[in-house]
Amino acid sequence: MTIVVVGGTGLIGAKVVSRLNALGHSPIVAARSTGVNSYTGEGLADALAGAETVIDVSNSSYTDELGALDFFETSTLNLLTYGAAAGVNHHVALSVVGSERLSRSEGGYFRAKAMQEALIRESARPYSIVHATQFFEFMRNIADSATRNGAVRVAEALMQPMAADDVAAAVVRTALAPPTGGTTEFAGPEPGRLAYFVQTVLGAQHDPREVEADPLARYFGNTLTERELLPEEHAELSRLRFDEWLAASRNDLRPA
Ligand SMILES: NC(=O)c1ccc[n+]([C@@H]2O[C@H](COP(=O)([O-])OP(=O)(O)OC[C@H]3O[C@@H](n4cnc5c(N)ncnc54)[C@H](OP(=O)(O)O)[C@@H]3O)[C@@H](O)[C@H]2O)c1
Repeated sequence: MTIVVVGGTGLIGAKVVSRLNALGHSPIVAARSTGVNSYTGEGLADALAGAETVIDVSNSSYTDELGALDFFETSTLNLLTYGAAAGVNHHVALSVVGSERLSRSEGGYFRAKAMQEALIRESARPYSIVHATQFFEFMRNIADSATRNGAVRVAEALMQPMAADDVAAAVVRTALAPPTGGTTEFAGPEPGRLAYFVQTVLGAQHDPREVEADPLARYFGNTLTERELLPEEHAELSRLRFDEWLAASRNDLRPA
């Protein structure tokens, strides 16, 4: 089966590609750095020729609503259109747990993710949407986006994050199974406070910033209620706990 991984050089994409390689597939890695641009369409027809499955784990470098909307709308329509022309029979996309709830507030990245999902659902193409919670590896990005004058203020919310490796495993399992025609949720094994996860990773990196929970703090442009980032009751939970990941990743977590 020919599989194209769009965003195959990214955090999740590289892990998806190496898992597929280990299983004996030889996926095509599609990213701007390999000459394929899902936004402009450059190289897309060639990359998708003969492909049966497209895995979209690309991301916008813009986290503001307008930049992210433009990227995900244009790229997703290109992937669906070029994919249909190439005979792709499974479009798999990675999105975020709670994207529909989170898309209600203006100015946020999640409107773009919810719109990406709506385009896929309405495309009449065979698809599977994977919803994952935040990655353990993403805590530093959350801290950076929430830093004002050296202080990190994060929303007073709960989250149930998971290892990027487990996200990649979930994406690969989904891609190798028949299209679900719906959304499947994946989450980490245990919930905790956003401030706790972010502060713990900064501490492991010897980053001196203090993290405070602030009811007015936004999360990538969104106001958050306490449980909005949590998965649904039937989500599939991964096994690797945050403390185990932290212990195993200490050498990779470079001091800030
Ligand atoms: N962060 C979280 O906690 C979280 C949670 C759940 C779901 N997600 C979702 O997971 C997905 C992957 O995130 P990630 O952190 O792995 O992303 P990432 O590390 O930023 O990687 C993004 C990938 O997209 C590629 N890309 C960007 N623009 C492109 C374009 N125009 N054409 C083709 N490829 C392009 C990049 O390669 P080039 O730069 O070479 O093009 C790179 O391979 C995202 O859609 C995100 O919404 C994230």
